[in-house]
Parts: sequence; structure tokens; C-alpha cells
Amino acid sequence: MEEFHKTRRLPPYVFEQVNKLKAAARAQGADIIDLGMGNPDLPTPPHIVEKLTEVVQDPRTHRYSASKGITGLRKAQAAYYERRFGVKLNPNTQVVATLGSKEGFANMAQAITAPGDVVLSPNPSYPIHTFGFLMAGAAIRAIPAEPGPEVFHALERAVIHSVPKPIAVIMCYPANPTAYVADLEFYKDVVAFARKHDIFILSDLAYSEIYFGDTPPPSMLQVPGAIEVTAEFTSLSKTFSMPGWRVGFAVGNERLLAALARVKSYLDYGAFTPIQVAATAALNGPEDCIVEMRNTYKRRRDVLVESFGRAGWDIPAPEASMFAWAPIPEKFRALGSLEFSKLLLEKAEIAVAPGIGFGEYGDDYVRIGLVENEKRLRQAARNLRRFLETADETLHNVVPVSAAR
Ligand SMILES: Cc1ncc(COP(=O)(O)O)c(C=O)c1O
Repeated sequence: MEEFHKTRRLPPYVFEQVNKLKAAARAQGADIIDLGMGNPDLPTPPHIVEKLTEVVQDPRTHRYSASKGITGLRKAQAAYYERRFGVKLNPNTQVVATLGSKEGFANMAQAITAPGDVVLSPNPSYPIHTFGFLMAGAAIRAIPAEPGPEVFHALERAVIHSVPKPIAVIMCYPANPTAYVADLEFYKDVVAFARKHDIFILSDLAYSEIYFGDTPPPSMLQVPGAIEVTAEFTSLSKTFSMPGWRVGFAVGNERLLAALARVKSYLDYGAFTPIQVAATAALNGPEDCIVEMRNTYKRRRDVLVESFGRAGWDIPAPEASMFAWAPIPEKFRALGSLEFSKLLLEKAEIAVAPGIGFGEYGDDYVRIGLVENEKRLRQAARNLRRFLETADETLHNVVPVSAAR
């Protein structure tokens, strides 16, 4: 069947291949430990759910809502930025509520891109960073995902060699899938570069509250002058474990936000009002639930790194996010991340996300989500140990991708 212009730009999700195998294995009765998705498993805190059920009783809330978010919600987001980052935002012109940050990001891409525009995106990255822009007709040029001097070398080269000159650069720290974190010094250099070359920065800060060290991840907007070129995206999905509610935000530069709000005004009427009111209660409410969830992810991280390490797979401990970015054990590296993920699923009953699904430079890695409890992670480590003990035998029966090519 012939593909449409847009769908040709959207290859089937690599993760689908692992998902299909996962479903088939489960249908056969296998107990798959699913660390493949970035789907938080913790429940939304009860006070937020209660607010939703209270507000939904009022028929006035059943009407169309406000596309860029109700005023109280935008004010609550501005208050969060001031409290957490010391950044003052005008809730009317510098804050837009979105249907999850993914929708906000994709519609920002629609709003600012002309066909053939060049956008700089980390590789590997969360798929919407590239595909949001590809759908909007942009061309993507990759930059390294790890914050450091190499990023600036790539940015300089991109400005010299891209025709037309890039319109935007995407930054995502704490990063999905790599869990890299960036500090304010790095952001200062990014902002200086972007201002010098008149390039927008789109900063994805979805993991602003999921961190394990003493220093919380900064906002790009903390850099003086950043607001002249930056839009930043945050989400309640991870912070309050509300992934299914679809509440996120874009904040920052007024021109960018006005463009996003305009596109959205043609597409949606905003989230259901009771959801927006409950989201407001979340942002204005107690923070102990955030701390509790952060600690849960931290304990899981420690169990994962420690138990997988003892089983024979050394995984660097992520400092933030809800993922570990795990180098494929040497012995299996030639398989590539997709074949290795399939093998792990079949032989160890562990599902992970193959790094290739996040970009070509991710193929030596798999992403492991901290989305199962400690007991299940320990179970995964036991399965892993058995798998690694029989690795030579297993590998004997598998043709490495590099050899098969
Ligand atoms: C880096 C990053 N950005 C955005 C999102 C999407 O979040 P939301 O649920 O707000 O659309 C995710 C979800 O996994 C993510 O990892």
C-alpha cells in the first residue's frame, strides 16, 4: 500500500517490534518484567484525584475549556517557575498549558517551521524531538546528546554548513533516553550561542523533579536573556505521576508562545476543565508527594544498578530521569540494540527499549526504565544472571547483525 507524504516520514516505532514480541511471550504465559516503557507506574497522589472528582460534579465544567489553559493553571505554573527556578513569568503571555508536553512540543514545531528549515536535535533523543519537526517539514541535523564541548563544536559546524541556517536547537536535560544532566554553565554557553546566531532554543525539562543528587536540574530560563530565544516544556506526567491526564506546559519567549497558542486555538479547546483544576491543585499543593516519588525512583535506581552489576552487567547510575542508559555488554554489542533487546526478552524475560529507537547513535545501548518495583527489579537481575551465565551457548545460535549484513 502506498504511504502518504506524512506517514512516509514516520517509520513504524522500533519499539513496536519489541512490544509485539512482549505480547506474544505473555500470551504464552511468560512473566515479562517490563522495563521498556517510560510509563510511570506510581498512582497519582489522592488529593489530586479527589480534586478532579469534586470538580467534575459541577456541570459548568463540562463545557469547552480554554485552549491555552485556564487562568488559574497558568498562574500556578508561573508560581512554580518563580518558586523553583527564581524565574518570573507573565502567565498571560509567557505560559501556555498543553495536552502533555509532547503535544506542546509537536505543535510548537508546526507553529514555527517552514518546509526545509533546519533544526538541530540531540541524537539519541526522545522521538518527538526529531519527528515533531520532521512532520512539520523540517530537516534534522544531529548534535551530540552528552552536554560538553562536542555539542558546541557541532553547533558551530551546523551554523557554517547548514543551508538554510538552523532555526532552532533542541535541548533535553535530564535527558531521555540517556539520563544526561546539564548544569547552568552549559546552559549559559548554549544561550550565548543561540543569541549570537539568532537561533531558538526549545528546552524539554520533563524530568525537572526526578533527580537523585543534591542539585536540582536547572531551567534554561535561569540564564539572563534566555527568554529572548527560549521556549521550555515541562510536564505533570512525571512530577505528579499523571501521565494519562495529559497536562504539560510551554513557557518562555512571547513570540514563540503566541505562535503555539495560535496553532492550538485552531486545534483544541484545552484539556477537560476538571483536569485543569486538578492540575492547578497539584502545582499549588503539598510537595511531599513529589519527594516521595523521587525517593522511590532513587531506591529503584540503586537496586537496578547494584543487582544488575552483581549479575554481571555494569550500568552507570543515572543522576536523574527515570531511566538508566545501559551500554550493551561487550559480548553482545555486535548484535545491535534491537537484536539484543529481543534476546533479553526471549531468554531473560526482561523488556528494555533498544537504543536504536532513539537514533542511530544509540545503537550500542538499551534504555532501562525504573518503572517496576524493587522486588521485580531483583527478579529481573536473577533472570539476567542466568542469561549471562549461558551467554556463550545463546550467542552461538544467534547471527550478529553486523555479520548478517
Ligand atoms: C523527555 C520527555 N519529554 C516529554 C515527554 C512527554 O511527556 P508528556 O506526558 O508531558 O507528553 C516524555 C515522556 O516520556 C519525555 O521523556
